[in-house]
Amino acid sequence: MIENGCLPSHIAIIMDGNGRWARQQGFARFRGHKQGAESVREITRECSKKQIKQLTLYAFSQENWRRPQREINLLMGLLKNYLVNERKEIKENNIRLTAIGRIYGLPEDVQRELTISIEESKNNTGMVLCLALNYGGRSEIVDAAKNIAESVKLGKITTEEITEEIFKKYLYTCDMADPDLLIRTGGEMRVSNFLLWEISYTELWVTPVCWPDFKKVHLEEAIYDYAHRERRFGGLRA
Ligand code: FPP
Repeated sequence: MIENGCLPSHIAIIMDGNGRWARQQGFARFRGHKQGAESVREITRECSKKQIKQLTLYAFSQENWRRPQREINLLMGLLKNYLVNERKEIKENNIRLTAIGRIYGLPEDVQRELTISIEESKNNTGMVLCLALNYGGRSEIVDAAKNIAESVKLGKITTEEITEEIFKKYLYTCDMADPDLLIRTGGEMRVSNFLLWEISYTELWVTPVCWPDFKKVHLEEAIYDYAHRERRFGGLRA
């Protein structure tokens, strides 16, 4: 039993291992992504039930464009279907959908469905589900730096006024709290250009379980582990 105060408010997930899962089962890589979309559904529902405030999912990185065109097309198709098919569930669960990343770089049909889902759910008051799409942590920081430079040029702020708090206001995540817990499935020990600014003090939890196999029981294991950690944010034990 975990008291509500010990639950992470914001969980971010690097959903890795779809390809390996498929290979282990003797399937083509795409079957792994398809099964991964099922885990997205289950984990979103569970987080919402547990009253987690925000779930951020790394669904497509900037680096993922390096994959074969066929896999990219299949992933984009899967994403589009997900956006259309999940609208009802998102509405019923009072979830607000948002997205971060260079959204303008996605195929137009995906952008269109994303805009509809964001618009339709914008007044929902429950969990925020944020999809990181065509996302890169370094690009996010570069985009912020460019916009700050523009603000300085226009005389909206001065160089001396730039602080961490001001910088944060220029990030894609300007209106979000930083993640409390970052889960990575598939066992790799790296952050892969995900939320580089935002995870400075985030607790990390890595599991060898591949994303298509990641279910409620694993989520609860991660949350349990998080609840028993002591977060000092660079300070001393209380
Ligand atoms: C990493 O697995 C996963 C991705 C690149 C894509 C994540 C996409 C999904 C979970 C499905 C669609 C998403 C939504 C929101 C419906 P990998 O292919 O790198 O696995 P590997 O490291 O084992 O090869």
